[in-house]
Amino acid sequence: MSTARLKAAVLISGNGSNLKALIRAVAADQLSLDIIRVISNRAEAGGLKYARDAGIPVSIIPHQQYADRDEHGRAIAAVLENAVLKGAVPDLIILAGYMRILSVDFARRFSNRMINLHPSLLPLYKGLDTYNRAIAAGDQYTGASIHVVTADLDDGPVISQVHIPIEANDDAATLAAKLGPLEHKLLLATVREFSEGHLKMMSFPTERGPQAGSRVTFNGNALHSPLQLQTDGSLNS
Ligand code: GRF
Repeated sequence: MSTARLKAAVLISGNGSNLKALIRAVAADQLSLDIIRVISNRAEAGGLKYARDAGIPVSIIPHQQYADRDEHGRAIAAVLENAVLKGAVPDLIILAGYMRILSVDFARRFSNRMINLHPSLLPLYKGLDTYNRAIAAGDQYTGASIHVVTADLDDGPVISQVHIPIEANDDAATLAAKLGPLEHKLLLATVREFSEGHLKMMSFPTERGPQAGSRVTFNGNALHSPLQLQTDGSLNS
């Protein structure tokens, strides 16, 4: 078995608390991967500070400077594939609070290398304003999901989830505050399983093309339902 450390790139747009959790875990040797680049579409993203403090190369690629989504996607792809990375495409691209929809071409170019953290129990509530939509629907639970990024918004196979109950006095702010630390744990546990080779993303043929489908395996078995975050911080089916 190869002992090479996984090379990861992290895309952010805002606070970067998930990025901070990843950087801390790597520094504490709790996560065997190298974060080789952080990319933000917003120059003022607070999370850039954590990358800079840790000496991780940063690229700011503001979407407003590009004619359309495709052109913006090509600019990000060029950074991910350029000589700074010595021609090596990151093994894992982590969308951690990256608030732009990626182009279809970008999603295809990095298919089965990219995961996204989304604040709902997917397939419920793709897109924005997830907590308010869960409250309005009278749901008893909300949570966070990590899924494979495909060309369709928040739609790839769900890898892992954490649930919390919605209580009578909860609003979007209280749910976000309760879920934040659990999202960090979910992300660390999921990335750890990728870095240790237990989780893998792979393509399979569909009517849309020979590599158009995405599936996830955990310890060699197809994952049919999301892994659940346990209280000890591990993931279990
Ligand atoms: C998280 O709530 C995540 O679910 C969503 O964006 C937020 C990112 O937070 N995709 P941060 O920027 O990592 O603090």
